[in-house]
Amino acid sequence: MADDGSEGATIEELLVESRVFPPSPAFRSDALVTDRSLYDQAAVDVNRFWEQQAHALDWFRPWDTTCAWEPPFARWFDGGTLNASWNCLDRHVAGGLGDRVAYYWEGESGETRTITYAQLLDEVQRFANVLKSLGVRRGDRVAMYMPMIPELPVAMLACARIGAPHIVVFGGFSSDALRSRIVDSGSRVVVTADGGWRRGAPVMLKQHVDAAIEGTDVEHAVVVRRLGDLAPGGAVAMSAGRDLWYHELMASAEAECPPEHMDAEDLLFLLHTSGTTARPKGIMHTTGGYLTQAAFTHRYVFDLHPERDVYWCTADIGWVTGHSYIVYGPLANAATSVMYEGTPDFPDKDRWWDIVERYKVTILYTAPTAIRTFMKWGTSYLSRHDLTSLRLLGSVGEPINPEAWVWYWKEVGGGTCPVVDTWWQTETGAILISPLPGVTDCKPGSATFPLPGIGAEVVDDHGNPVEHGGGYLTLTQPWPAMLRGIYGDPERYHETYWSRFPGRYFAGDGAKIDEDGYLWLLGRVDDVMNISGHRVSTTEVESALVDHPSVAESAVVGATDATTGQAIVAFVTLRSGESAGDNLGTRLRQHVADKIGPIARPKSIVFTDDLPKTRSGKIMRRLLRDVAEGRALGDTTTLADASVVDEIRRRSQAAPAED
Ligand code: PRX
Repeated sequence: MADDGSEGATIEELLVESRVFPPSPAFRSDALVTDRSLYDQAAVDVNRFWEQQAHALDWFRPWDTTCAWEPPFARWFDGGTLNASWNCLDRHVAGGLGDRVAYYWEGESGETRTITYAQLLDEVQRFANVLKSLGVRRGDRVAMYMPMIPELPVAMLACARIGAPHIVVFGGFSSDALRSRIVDSGSRVVVTADGGWRRGAPVMLKQHVDAAIEGTDVEHAVVVRRLGDLAPGGAVAMSAGRDLWYHELMASAEAECPPEHMDAEDLLFLLHTSGTTARPKGIMHTTGGYLTQAAFTHRYVFDLHPERDVYWCTADIGWVTGHSYIVYGPLANAATSVMYEGTPDFPDKDRWWDIVERYKVTILYTAPTAIRTFMKWGTSYLSRHDLTSLRLLGSVGEPINPEAWVWYWKEVGGGTCPVVDTWWQTETGAILISPLPGVTDCKPGSATFPLPGIGAEVVDDHGNPVEHGGGYLTLTQPWPAMLRGIYGDPERYHETYWSRFPGRYFAGDGAKIDEDGYLWLLGRVDDVMNISGHRVSTTEVESALVDHPSVAESAVVGATDATTGQAIVAFVTLRSGESAGDNLGTRLRQHVADKIGPIARPKSIVFTDDLPKTRSGKIMRRLLRDVAEGRALGDTTTLADASVVDEIRRRSQAAPAED
């Protein structure tokens, strides 16, 4: 978009990516969808389209109204009743799929468990009875703070079975974060473990729970024995009467627990977004619409053939990606998934590729941060393993730089697997913008088009649609898996998502639309820089840097500058074997200028071994701005590794600004 510096100017479109990757004939020959029929059906009658998708589930009672929309509040499939655990388990077992593997689970230290649908159903029913015996009733909230072990999906589905909404808190969060989520949700039972394993070391979850629940309404902690006697100092302390062992309760639990008939709009779960400031928001997701769209997207975006695919989503279940694409979507579709407890570099940096080879994974869904880390480590770890079972790759969580996309496609997918870049949020519940792999010609770095049934538009500062160029990503119509609100705070829901552009949901992301109508996500609008009146997206400058063969990863921020308002400071991580010598900084600045224009040339470049990231892998540019402007650091509690910033600060003081 041409920028005249006026108030209406939105975000510049700088980076032009012209490579196009159509689905291969081999992939198309076997794909679920190869034409535009789903898009056409949704365009003709969107409610009818979603009804068809909802019919893929089992309902105890059919709904009366497909969508009741009183902005900003939507109700989907009102009057219908169903149960999420029934849809994920019972109906598959009843349909003869009891012996199909639901999860191949692998612990970090190498132990494995294979869990069939029949076994999962059995365990879920017993645990549902355990929860009931602890006084949990329909509508009561239950918190979970667990490692990536099968008992986590068991606990979630047991809650769903008895109509108790779950609140999963990521096991890497502090006891304060856990406490605020327990208090916000009013949970009286917490399911946890004595600990988990991370990079060979025990993570002491139970101790955090003890600190978190002190003085709250929590009556019971149910504790899975994962570390046992390997816990430092011996088995963890249990508070008599309050803390109960999972395995002891399960040993005497009744085997059968009939599923509650839940209203479509009954709360299925709360998931708190990890706001770095203020109170975390308890995002509300309900039963019928959420499950419909999680199942629909999981099937079509990943081209799922449940009878033969082995699907692996590497996220943690503590994030929405794990909720929708490790638990509800795959199980509703009777898929076979891999679930892995640990980190990608334990015991060595080829752990994931070892897992892909051993389980013959066909579909891999991961995040750009992981892909860029593997780029940094180099291809030797991949070439140790046979990855030819893979047939589809997915990405989520951040914009994927075109070069990382191509690397993923070529080095991981062997140049034969479509890569689906999927845009969505905790709030959206399910993928909204993504290719359909048998239909869409992909452009690396673009999430391409809204899925069938989704209305998305890029608008300018005044809320007018932008036909070509940069602006704000908005959603124009309700969708079944949309958040129903912020728990206990309808005002904040309206204010946060619906007030900036009346009548539209504003996602907080910048995006551009190219001449072919492809959508390109440009990162959070808070991250947009203003250089001499030009609004430049951090994503585009980062992608230009990653385009250079020496660079694995970069994070770019705007630091206050007396001349240009803001100046671009780039933090750069090199690929393994590369060094910053020979004026690499100057060459990189020139590379960006050549690639996307002199306006985007970084003023200075800081080389660093690592970037500050949240636990879910998102780069924390806010902290880098603090470093670039020489300020004290803001809140660092959500950082995965706090030492990274100190190192960057040291290097940044040593790095001269170049003009
Ligand atoms: O900024 C977008 C980015 O992640 C945000 C949502 O984060 P969260 O609620 O934690 O959910 C992450 C998993 C769905 C979005 O507002 N984001 C997510 N996927 C993409 C993305 N940015 C660009 N491209 C994506 N594919």
